[in-house]
Amino acid sequence: MKTPSRKMDHLRITLLQDVEAGSTWFEYVKVVHRAAPEINMKDVNTEIEVFGKKLKAPIIVTGMTGGNENAAKINATIAEVVEELGLGMGVGSQRAAIEHPELAWTFKIAREKAPNALLIANLGAPQLLKGYGIKEIRDAIEMIDADAIAIHLNAAQEAFQPEGDLDFEGLISKLAELIDSVDKPIIIKETGAGIDYDTALMFRDIGIKAFDVSGSGGTSWVKVEMYRALEKGLEELAKAAEWMSDWGIPTAAAIAETRAAAPEATIIGSGGVRTGMDAIKALAMGADIAGLALPALKAAYRGKEELKKYLKAMMISIRAAQFLTSSPTPKDLKGKAVIYGPLKEWLIERKVYDLWLGSWRRTE
Ligand code: FNR
Repeated sequence: MKTPSRKMDHLRITLLQDVEAGSTWFEYVKVVHRAAPEINMKDVNTEIEVFGKKLKAPIIVTGMTGGNENAAKINATIAEVVEELGLGMGVGSQRAAIEHPELAWTFKIAREKAPNALLIANLGAPQLLKGYGIKEIRDAIEMIDADAIAIHLNAAQEAFQPEGDLDFEGLISKLAELIDSVDKPIIIKETGAGIDYDTALMFRDIGIKAFDVSGSGGTSWVKVEMYRALEKGLEELAKAAEWMSDWGIPTAAAIAETRAAAPEATIIGSGGVRTGMDAIKALAMGADIAGLALPALKAAYRGKEELKKYLKAMMISIRAAQFLTSSPTPKDLKGKAVIYGPLKEWLIERKVYDLWLGSWRRTE
């Protein structure tokens, strides 16, 4: 099946069905309140600088769409809102436009509507493994005048696609060859199953300096493919996808694993971030930026004002949390949390608990 129609399936299913599964484990993170924060709210600064752009708050809408007219409308809406609020966004996989240049406008519209905002280009690891190289990466970046490019890892999704790309061998060496020729930061991005310590370490070792952990607990691409398999009458595939719909590393654990492996990296904490509180917990776990996809899609579908209200409420939440934890900047939130239950057991069992920068030790 051609990319554009598969992308239409994805938009339709994610908008109409329940595509979420599992838990982020943010319920095992509690940010520690400071009763006397000894800070004036007017000295709280939520701004960050990342990938050469200033954001008014550490929030981005992660890459979702492009390639058809509806997708273009969604990209335009998200772009207008992030431009107004001073946030950032990614576009969805640009494979469709690389293969069908007449579709490039559905991605370019993001830069037209957001001339100043942080924009992240997007290509999939399977495409790099099937022959995409420096030319396609540069084309994707140029197409939207991007500030960075995300290379997405979606092995869990591909495993449940009847037409899936199942050869993931050689990605690290392929990227190692390319990395010096790309003049914008490359973000290694999962798509809802989370990045583990060893994966982050391998990419860090070849010079990757940014990750979007996209852990489990939010949109499950295994579950999206379950619906597609059902529609095609592929009952066994659908059943397997149903059983495995919460596959992956919960987002809170994925942030800590990635932070432990790459202490200096820029980390986007995403996957199941739904509320201001989730965003705050992502930052407290060690992310530099909180990212969200599905709720932004749903809000954008209802219109620009809906999305604006939603993201503004997140910005207010982060400002309040910085005030209440005596954190002049978002990065001061790192480590101001207590973790417990399965999340703590996981990190101890995985031997990343002690490695993890910005951990629960007191920072003062
Ligand atoms: C996505 N996501 C995604 N990611 C990516 O790198 N390239 C892509 O083309 C897409 N396409 C896409 C379409 C739609 C409709 C959704 C909802 C999501 C994945 C997305 O960026 C994110 O990593 C996951 O959805 C997890 O975040 P949420 O949705 O739980 O906030």
